[in-house]
Amino acid sequence: MYYSEKILEEVRAGNDIVDVISGYVRLQKKGGRYWGLCPFHNEKSPSFSVNGDMQVYHCFGCGAGGNVYTFVMNYENYTFPEAVRMLAQRAGVALPQEEDSPEARSRDNRRARLLEVNKAAAKFFYYQLRSPHGEIGYRYLKKRELSDETMHKFGLGFAGKNGAHLVQYLREKGFEDDLIQEAGLAAHSEKYGLNSQFWNRVMYPIQDINNRVIGFGGRVMGEGEPKYLNSPETPVFDKRRNLYGLNYARKARSGNIILCEGYMDVISMHQAGFTQAVASLGTAFTPEQAALLKRYTETVLLAYDSDGAGVKAALRAIGILRDAGLTGKIINMQPYKDPDEFMKSLGKESFEERIRQAENSFFFEVRILQGQFDMDDPEEKTRFHREIAKKLCEFSEEVERDNYLQAVAEKYYIGIENLRRLVVRYAAGTGAAKPLERPKSGIRRRDPEENAKRSQRLLITWLCAQPVLYGRIRKYISPEDFTVELYRRVAERLFPELEAGRVNPAGIISMFEDGEEQKEAAELFSALLPELDTAQEKEKAFHEILLSVKRNSYQYHLSQMGAEVSALSRAIEGKKALEELAGTHISLD
Ligand code: GTP
Ligand code: MN
Repeated sequence: MYYSEKILEEVRAGNDIVDVISGYVRLQKKGGRYWGLCPFHNEKSPSFSVNGDMQVYHCFGCGAGGNVYTFVMNYENYTFPEAVRMLAQRAGVALPQEEDSPEARSRDNRRARLLEVNKAAAKFFYYQLRSPHGEIGYRYLKKRELSDETMHKFGLGFAGKNGAHLVQYLREKGFEDDLIQEAGLAAHSEKYGLNSQFWNRVMYPIQDINNRVIGFGGRVMGEGEPKYLNSPETPVFDKRRNLYGLNYARKARSGNIILCEGYMDVISMHQAGFTQAVASLGTAFTPEQAALLKRYTETVLLAYDSDGAGVKAALRAIGILRDAGLTGKIINMQPYKDPDEFMKSLGKESFEERIRQAENSFFFEVRILQGQFDMDDPEEKTRFHREIAKKLCEFSEEVERDNYLQAVAEKYYIGIENLRRLVVRYAAGTGAAKPLERPKSGIRRRDPEENAKRSQRLLITWLCAQPVLYGRIRKYISPEDFTVELYRRVAERLFPELEAGRVNPAGIISMFEDGEEQKEAAELFSALLPELDTAQEKEKAFHEILLSVKRNSYQYHLSQMGAEVSALSRAIEGKKALEELAGTHISLD
């Protein structure tokens, strides 16, 4: 049963969120919004906020959040249609008996069709691999020591040299050309017409947690470029939000998940019995993937490549895991390059041993840090110790910090008291390890990625609270400046609303179906704006936030160069805008 967006909006508008939540939670007004004890986690002082202007709620303690629908669903444990019915009744809105909105139907149909065409293509590749056309591929996989059973489990296939075959097959099965193209399976060329994108490659179908084929990775035979070709993002293939192998790993019940870099690593781990292995999809590990993993485990073991790039990627992943509240540990793959090679050379038992010895992420970071200093030079050694002290300040809990302090002092032969003094000095000098002194804009220093997200949230919240500002900054800002994917999607929807002078944050939340996404979106509208007295201070704070968003966007697009053609021009535009913005005064009245 679908309800049209119009009717859902009508029901929502008829149920003021403050009113509804007041029926469940005692709320008190403070600083422009309402506060109460969060009904979704245990707490003694209120961190649950409800914003009547935006019609959203967000808990700063546990992260719960959403609009009035989300609240009722979570509190009453209702399904969405149940929540709609309950709220419709409450507001006295009559629901149509049977309503299927055409847009919803066609959107769902499109997604379903994309999944079907992917499934058909997977089948085609699967049979190709096992036919004479696929012999090269089959021999390649055998050489990589995969059993028939493993190849079957992962649905491995082969895309042959004739790119017309796939298209012909799919057309015969009744798939339209534009669908085949939208799925990223084929593209038009002058010379060949509609022709397969994958050509002479071993094919790895990528499945979501419900075993549906959402995309493909294809590995070239021999030395071609690129080594791996992945399907583009489509309405069913979101690379940030899926993980290769998770459909199996989530059932492994091994108490941890092993995160690898490559598809082949995952496959050879599963073959060896480590069915908890997953990998990201040809891109760096994302916060969205960390949130996904958190549904299944507390502990993530990193089995990244042992080379420089692998270590760098591991350091990044550790930060993301930590932000998501997951424990990260690092599996030492030396002297081998990756899990696949390790498994082939030393086998299962040795790998089990390495899992037991997996290194705590703090010690891993310190060890990598050590490599950057010359321990024979007293001055460098001192700097190393200072860096350790700085890292220790990242633990906000005193007991934890002290435990690590003792352990690291022992490990690196540093006098405990000396190290403690360094920590105190560092903390006193920067204000870390104590409540941080906040700059006036409400942007805290700390982890740069969290900072970037925070300024993006502050900007969105501020714009919603004072929509007239949009007109003054629109020439500087675009949805592309929001580097968190979900934030960008919100901005894409919000900016036209700001343009039209009709903002509806609660309505935007409704466009997300997933509860996690609704939470994140609600957080985006709930940032705590700095409480400042003078207009001048406010202007300065707003300017600071805007600059911070732009600066981050510029750096992000710079880092994307090489991966994306459009990134260069975005980066250049970003730099220009940044320079102009730095010297521009934006009035808030
Ligand atoms: P093998 O050489 O087959 O063992 O590959 P691997 O899985 O060990 O790959 P590697 O360590 O080189 O890369 C790890 C992962 O990065 C791969 O599984 C892909 O997801 C991705 N990747 C590697 N090369 C490319 C590329 O050229 N383009 C893209 N988009 N992704 C790549
Ligand atoms: Mn490999």
